[in-house]
Amino acid sequence: MDDLHKRLKVIEEEAKSAAAAAAAKSIEALRQAESRFLGKKGSLNEIVKSVGKLPPEQRAEVGRLANDAKRLVKEIFASMRQDSTARAAEAERQQAVAYDPTLPGPVAPSGGIHPTTAVLWELTDVFERMGFVVEAGPEMESEFYNFESLNIPSWHPARDSQDTFWLTNGLLLRTHTSAMQVRAMRKYGPPLRVVVPGMCFRNETVDASHETTFHQFEGFLVDRHISVGNLKAFLQLMLREVFKRDVKIRLRPGYFPFVEPGLECDMSCLICGGKGCPTCKYEGWVELLGSGMIHPNVLTAGGIDPHEYTGFAFGVGPTRLAMMKYGIGDIRLMNSCDLRGLIPPERLTGPTIKTT
Ligand code: PHE
Repeated sequence: MDDLHKRLKVIEEEAKSAAAAAAAKSIEALRQAESRFLGKKGSLNEIVKSVGKLPPEQRAEVGRLANDAKRLVKEIFASMRQDSTARAAEAERQQAVAYDPTLPGPVAPSGGIHPTTAVLWELTDVFERMGFVVEAGPEMESEFYNFESLNIPSWHPARDSQDTFWLTNGLLLRTHTSAMQVRAMRKYGPPLRVVVPGMCFRNETVDASHETTFHQFEGFLVDRHISVGNLKAFLQLMLREVFKRDVKIRLRPGYFPFVEPGLECDMSCLICGGKGCPTCKYEGWVELLGSGMIHPNVLTAGGIDPHEYTGFAFGVGPTRLAMMKYGIGDIRLMNSCDLRGLIPPERLTGPTIKTT
């Protein structure tokens, strides 16, 4: 009997330390440890099972002792289980406290803006601040607005310079944003100030400096006493706003049927600082835009009396401007879809969002 007492004591002690060790690991470890003592093949059950083999006078006593030990071990494991569940709940609670919903969340990588888009937004913003109306105009345009109203009759040789995508419905894809000039004149009447950021299309062979689809930014102003001086001032102001510094420009005669006089505007190449490089074809100057004083025939087509009103117009390629502004030497990079060429919003110098 003494022996049995000792054995049970040892089992109880073992159960205590096994339960503590298992509880520190996991609920599952605790369950496994418990079955080592209380399971069918557990050490205590072995003793209970052996009761049948004992002499009858010992059976009751041994059975009682073994059952007491069983109850005790059960209690040890039950309390350990409670402890570790409570600990798990506490850990979970701590974790919940560690999560502070008022802290700013992880910063999602933000998209970049294409340099051409950035410049288009900037241009639009500058002119809007000076009272210009922004018009998108249709990309699918009539021959009348794209050519005829702009003093380019069907027999005019200037049509050759605008290789056109003709559509089967008799319309065409506008070859320039100048197509909006007469539309706007008819819509607003004089005086007017309008800018047209938009896509244009030409049926040309694609090469390093020509694309079939490209952006233009048109601006025109009609009022009394408007002269070339006003045109030059606006151009200079526009470039100063885009480049954030004074930019050297030069105006030279150019021919466009819808302006008289017609003026080409060049700017000093910012890639090489005017010394000459592949981008400016070693001239130190890059062609920037076409401009001039709106032809009296165009004003007339727009329902404006050319004796009373004059105006200027210009059309600029924002892609060219973007290349100069961001120091991009090759136009092909602009359509390369290389995400490294995009401008992160924090580096934008103009508006960060523009819906027009
Ligand atoms: N529309 C002309 C072009 O696409 C540019 C231009 C606009 C010229 C306005 C003069 C006045 O080349």
